[in-house]
Amino acid sequence: MNRPPAGPGLPGSPAPSDRKVTVPDLRAARTSGRRIVMLTAYDYPTARILEAAGVDILLVGDSLGNNVLGYENTLPVTMDEMLHHTRAVTRAARRALVVSDMPYLSFQTGRRDAIRNAGRFLKEGGAGAVKIEGGRKRASLVQALLDAEIPVMGHIGLTPQSVHLMGGYRVQGKKIDQARALVEDAVALEEAGAFSLVLEGMPESVGRAVTDAVGIPTIGIGAGRFCDGQVLVIHDLLGLGETPPPKFARRYADIGREIGTAVRRFIGDVREGSFPSEAEVYTAPEAVGPARRAGQ
Ligand code: KIV
Repeated sequence: MNRPPAGPGLPGSPAPSDRKVTVPDLRAARTSGRRIVMLTAYDYPTARILEAAGVDILLVGDSLGNNVLGYENTLPVTMDEMLHHTRAVTRAARRALVVSDMPYLSFQTGRRDAIRNAGRFLKEGGAGAVKIEGGRKRASLVQALLDAEIPVMGHIGLTPQSVHLMGGYRVQGKKIDQARALVEDAVALEEAGAFSLVLEGMPESVGRAVTDAVGIPTIGIGAGRFCDGQVLVIHDLLGLGETPPPKFARRYADIGREIGTAVRRFIGDVREGSFPSEAEVYTAPEAVGPARRAGQ
């Protein structure tokens, strides 16, 4: 694919503003060359703002674990936690497609578990699709989920649920055989029926080779400029993370600092007695006399 390396995405969105972005819309976006925009969202107010701004896909990522729930990584995240946050996001999503991440051990334990858990995201959470980590070893599972009418987004490269196997969060596919394996993973997932692929943490040349090898849209995070779309964790984009954002993320705001400044002002106002002011209190038509004590 000969995609221009950078520059603003094409205007417009995969779906008219009055209806939901669908899986076929995303395939069409790939064909038309319109770049897909995906962001993580974990709660109602954030999802509402991202939705109004025009994001195509809201990913309820299992990065919920480290970004919202204070876990060290994504492994402890449970189905109940994911469902709770998926419901909050789908309540806000009128137009954006909501994709829920299948958390660790919700799909690795067998096909029945995977179908039941993925189905809960659609049935109880209101999501439109699920995402699962892993390459060709997930191909038969993708088919099984499709048989249960569940659209699946694949996720290859740096897959955070494999953090212990990878020995940390390391860029994948730097060696030629690993790069070829990633291309094979992508093709296997496409053949199994995945409707798109997240490519995470790989050299740009590998992201490009994978994108060229498949006909479904690729959505990159740390996978370079040649993917069909980009995704970021919203905390990295907004400056809400605990640590500096990774090299591939761009910080567009410093909301963490803004929150700290606002809260310090509030603390100061309360302590010095300037909050609440007269304008910020309710008044009653009649003055309340001193309270009577029992027996008086
Ligand atoms: O959980 C997540 O936020 C993700 C993105 C990094 C793609 O899987």
